[in-house]
Amino acid sequence: MTSFSDSLPSADPSNSVTLPKEAYFDQDFFDLEKREMWFKTWHYAGWVGELKNVGDYITASLFEQDVIIIRGNDGQLAGFYNVCQHRGHKLLSGSGSVASMRCPYHSWVYDLNGRLTHARGSETTLSVDVDKIRLREISVDVVADLFVFFNLDPEAQPLDPQLTDFIDDLESEVPDLRRMELTTRPGNSDPDTESFLDVAYPVNANWKIVMENFLECYHCRGAHPDVKDLFALDDLTLRGHPLWTKQKSSVTGLEGGKQLFYTLFPNMTLSFVTGGLPYVTIFEFAVPDGPTKTTFGHGGYYCLPDDMMGETLPQDYVQVGREDKDLCESAQRGMFSLGYDQGRFMYDPTHSEITEEGSHAFSRFIMKYVGL
Ligand code: FES
Ligand SMILES: [Fe+2]
Repeated sequence: MTSFSDSLPSADPSNSVTLPKEAYFDQDFFDLEKREMWFKTWHYAGWVGELKNVGDYITASLFEQDVIIIRGNDGQLAGFYNVCQHRGHKLLSGSGSVASMRCPYHSWVYDLNGRLTHARGSETTLSVDVDKIRLREISVDVVADLFVFFNLDPEAQPLDPQLTDFIDDLESEVPDLRRMELTTRPGNSDPDTESFLDVAYPVNANWKIVMENFLECYHCRGAHPDVKDLFALDDLTLRGHPLWTKQKSSVTGLEGGKQLFYTLFPNMTLSFVTGGLPYVTIFEFAVPDGPTKTTFGHGGYYCLPDDMMGETLPQDYVQVGREDKDLCESAQRGMFSLGYDQGRFMYDPTHSEITEEGSHAFSRFIMKYVGL
């Protein structure tokens, strides 16, 4: 790896440097992150309501890794790499329900436990022991009885018990959380109007720069002149925890309303406004496409069954998205500068708009996984 600074973020957010600049562009560091962090942490796959019955499945992916999550005959969820053990074809696509998993290529058939049950020609190819071939497993867990997550590490510690404080906090803000269902968020009815995704992605910056920008509002007052039309900065609070963060503030023009942004490390955000019908959006906010390019990923819009028309549309963040993209791309260029090594985290013990403790907690999470 490129020479790496000895100076790394400390445990104390009030006295800590940021990650060294190489962490934001170095290919070796990126590969290390992929192997040790992305492939050993939990990632959102979908809604548990799509997996009610035996044989129901959803699919997801992480980089080039495709996975299946399926309800087995024993009623439990199981997860497998979505790859046939014959010649590597993808087994299932999208979501649906199956009695068994049949490969579209040469029709090998696996049961819901991932065991190969039929391979045409195995009667004449005695060296192929059908009974010994099975799909490779991954870990699966459900958070708050709602969100299905997977982890490529088959030995991963279950996620839900690690997030007790997060789930309690989320439910205190959204008491109806467990009654919510995944729905299709209504599209933009005017095709000429730019959406947040149109203007904000892709970002020519390392995925951590995009996350760290989301994880603090220290920049909001100066860099987003119109943010006051969306939410208040004066009563904003931001808290960092080892696995998650929470930003909360009142909403402009909505009496009693609160704007909430949660982050689940490494890259999931959950956001919503309270005051109207409850809803939660969950998204992969920053998906790496190489060391210095980031896209938006998979997610979902959850609301109560009686709000399936999506009356609780989130606010318009198009302008903020445009500004954040520019901020991130400029900061990325700075990482290459001979005039910069690494930065400092700003901190406020009252957890006001100033504090960068969310970005700090995120950096410590990365360090833990990559072994720094
Ligand atoms: S690749 Fe699946 S049966 Fe051949
Ligand atoms: Fe911003």
